[in-house]
Order: sequence, then C-alpha cells, then structure tokens
Amino acid sequence: MSNVAEIKLGEKSVSLPIVVGTEGEHAIDIAKLRSQTGYITLDDGYGNTGSCESAITFIDGEKGILRYRGIPIEELAQKSTFIETAYLIIYGNLPNHQQLRQFSDLLTRHELLHEDMKFHFQGFPAKAHPMAILSSMINACGCFSPTLLETESIPDFDIQAARLISQVRTIASFSYRKSRGLPMNYPKPTYKYTANLLHMMFSSPYEEVELNPEVVKALDLIFLLHADHEQNCSTSTVRMVASSRANLFASCSAGVCALWGPLHGGANQAVLEMLGEIHQSGDDGTRFIAAAKDKSSGKRLMGFGHRVYKNHDPRAKIIKAQCDRVLDTLHINDPLLDIAKRLEEATLNDSYFVERKLYPNVDFYSGIIMRALGIPLEMFTVMFAIGRMPGWIANYKEIMEEKETRIYRPRQIYTGSTVRGYIPIEER
Ligand code: ACO
Repeated sequence: MSNVAEIKLGEKSVSLPIVVGTEGEHAIDIAKLRSQTGYITLDDGYGNTGSCESAITFIDGEKGILRYRGIPIEELAQKSTFIETAYLIIYGNLPNHQQLRQFSDLLTRHELLHEDMKFHFQGFPAKAHPMAILSSMINACGCFSPTLLETESIPDFDIQAARLISQVRTIASFSYRKSRGLPMNYPKPTYKYTANLLHMMFSSPYEEVELNPEVVKALDLIFLLHADHEQNCSTSTVRMVASSRANLFASCSAGVCALWGPLHGGANQAVLEMLGEIHQSGDDGTRFIAAAKDKSSGKRLMGFGHRVYKNHDPRAKIIKAQCDRVLDTLHINDPLLDIAKRLEEATLNDSYFVERKLYPNVDFYSGIIMRALGIPLEMFTVMFAIGRMPGWIANYKEIMEEKETRIYRPRQIYTGSTVRGYIPIEER
C-alpha cells in the first residue's frame, strides 16, 4: 500500500503522508493540508481525529481490546495490582522487585499533605462536590512544590508523579471526611495503597476499619481498570493543558474537571442516580428503557454505550465478575441491583440497543460495586480520578518528552454573523 494519500479538491490534488501505528492503524497526516489547499478538516467531537502519537495504551473498539503498554487488560487484572500497573503505564515496563519497592517507598514518603492544606479544606462548604475539592486541591498541592512551577522541564519527575498518585488519595479521603464532619485520618505507612485509602475514609479514632480482602481487591481492580484509556475527554484535556507547558498538577487538575461530567467519569454516579429514580417511581426499568429510546425525553440509559467500544467493553466483563464476588461475599441484597440486572437483560434483546451496539460499560458495574462497599455516591467519580491518575501522568510525561511539541490549538469553521457595524446602545 502507498504511504501517501492523494486527495482531490476540485482541480487540485495533494499528497499527504500516511502514518501507520505498531498495531497497523492507519492515519492521514493532514498537518500540511491547510497550507497546501486552504482546507481544514471538520470532525465534530473528534470521533475520527488522531490528536497525537502515543505509546501508552492500545484500544481496538471493534474487537473489544484494551492493552496497557502492550499487556492485555485481562492479564493485568488477573495478575497485577494497581500500583504495579501504574508503574507500567508511567515508565513503560513492568517494574522488577527493586523498582517496585522504590516506587512504593516514594508513594509512602509523599502520602502526607502539607499541614497547611488542612485550612484549604475548611474553606469549602459542607455540601461542596468532592470533585470540585479534588481539582482545587490538586492544583493547590502544586503550590507547595515551588520547583514544579519554576522551570519548563519536569523537575524531579519521579517525586512529583509519586506525590500526585499518593496525595490524590489523601485529598479524596479528607474531602469525604470533611463533608461528613468527621475527623481526618492520616495515612498509615504500613498499609498498601488501596487498603490505606479505605482506612483513611472509614476508620474512626476509636475503631479501625475492618479490611475485607475481597473488598480491597475489588477497589484495587476498579483503579487498575480505569488507569488509562488513551485519548478520552479527560486525558485529552490533560494533554491540551500540558501542551501549553503548564505544570503536572495544573494539567491533572484540569483532567479532574473534564472527568466530572456525567457523559464521562460522572457516569458511575449517574448510573446509581438513574437506578434510584427507577426504583422510587415504582418502575421495573421498562418505562425508563422506553424513555431512553425516545430522543425527546432527554434521557439516556446511563452506563450504556461507549464512544470507542462498539462490541463490548473488555473492562465491563472483568468488573462484572468481581461485582458478583463482592455482592456474594458481603451478602448484599439490594433492590437497585435487581433493577440493574433487569436493565442489562432487557437491553441485550432490544433492537434499539443491539443495532446501536450499546452495551453496559465499566461504569455500570463500578458504581454497583462502590455502593456495595459503602462508598458514598458523590465519591464515585473521585474513585475514577484516583484510578486514572497514572494515565494522566504518563500522557503528561509523553508530551513533555516529545522533541517538538506544539501547543494544541484546533481550528474551527465559523458559522456566526458576517461583518457588521457596532450599534450605539440608544439605537438598539
Ligand atoms: N442510551 C440511549 N441511547 C443512547 C445511549 C444511551 N446510553 N448512548 C448512545 N445512544 C444512542 C444515541 O442517541 C444515538 O442514537 P441515533 O443514532 O438514533 O441518533 C446513538 O446511540 C449513537 O450515540 P452517540 O451519542 O453518537 O454515541 P457517542 O459515541 O457520541 O457517545 C457516550 C458515547 C457518551 C458514552 C454515550 O453512549 C452515552 O451518553 N452513554 C451514557 C453515559 C455513559 O455511560 N458514559 C460513560 C462512558 S464510559 C467512560 O467514560 C468510562
């Protein structure tokens, strides 16, 4: 196959290079299209646009494949942990014993927030959404690391990355405790990453949280499955901000804001809200499904569909199995879970969903697990953000290590008024 694409625009013809990825994906490099023809490409929602070349995560949405640094998600879910996977995503290879120990030590050493950060928490109203607190606090954390803001390169990258991964968990638990008026719990260096988060969220001064291994494993798996997902909305946001040479904390804080929306990370919260709404209205799901198929209702079946996966979400299969194990272990009998199962079954046989290839995504099940674990609804998207941190950091690193990074700056097709004069206010 030729390595150029010939594009004919009226009488004019241009040759544009074809770029081929390591998995055989083909792209037309249109960087010179405008200078050679005056045309730009228009791709609403970027569904057909490659914004960068990246060596971190591979997805084949048609086949339902997800790999971090080449390793299938199924294998990582079975054999790895969130922290080992975080190392793989950020540094490109699985760590050996020594590398893993050093990475864990760095996480432990940087898990405490600067004590003055506590005053920041006090400034938020009790009902503040923890995603707002998380994004503000991540940015605030950057202020306590002056070298981070001084230079254009990534100073002490290993330390900054470890601080962010470790402290995002401390911020998350502090924001939860603050919202409930509970005393803050400091991290315990003897606990591993996910157990430590559960301790900080749920231990009380008079009673340590009981750490059920199946519960710890389920949450660790949720983090691992969310650790990266190539150029989704929040990761693209991180890259966009990083391309202006903003620092790591500012870039990832922007990623948190992008993740918050209900069509992205906020979907796990939206799933449970939807199940609650169905339950309260006495519906068994049938009426809601009918509404989701009716565009004028403005409703969607939350936790269904995916921009990239048009066959199945490989993460959904893994997490569904873990979901069943957790519910069994904790002997949970929950009417919302019954509704969730009914929705899943009904849509599998409904031509609207089948034709549009709309299947449950990872967030359909992660919300159900988190509810079973006693994690409050408003913290669901925060858990997603904790999991996604390694992916954002790896994308930040990749962009900073590129020899020639241009600031991200898409173009547009203008559809507003053509030129017109200014009318003085008295004459309007
Ligand atoms: N319920 C009902 N109909 C849907 C749904 C849904 N959840 N998702 C898509 N559709 C329909 C659309 O109305 C459209 O129908 P049409 O062809 O008749 O116009 C068709 O399916 C294609 O939908 P798009 O909006 O073009 O799909 P897109 O790829 O842009 O959106 C998205 C993907 C945002 C995930 C969408 O499926 C959705 O809103 N799902 C619910 C929210 C959700 O679960 N988000 C989590 C995503 S996963 C994650 O972030 C980890």
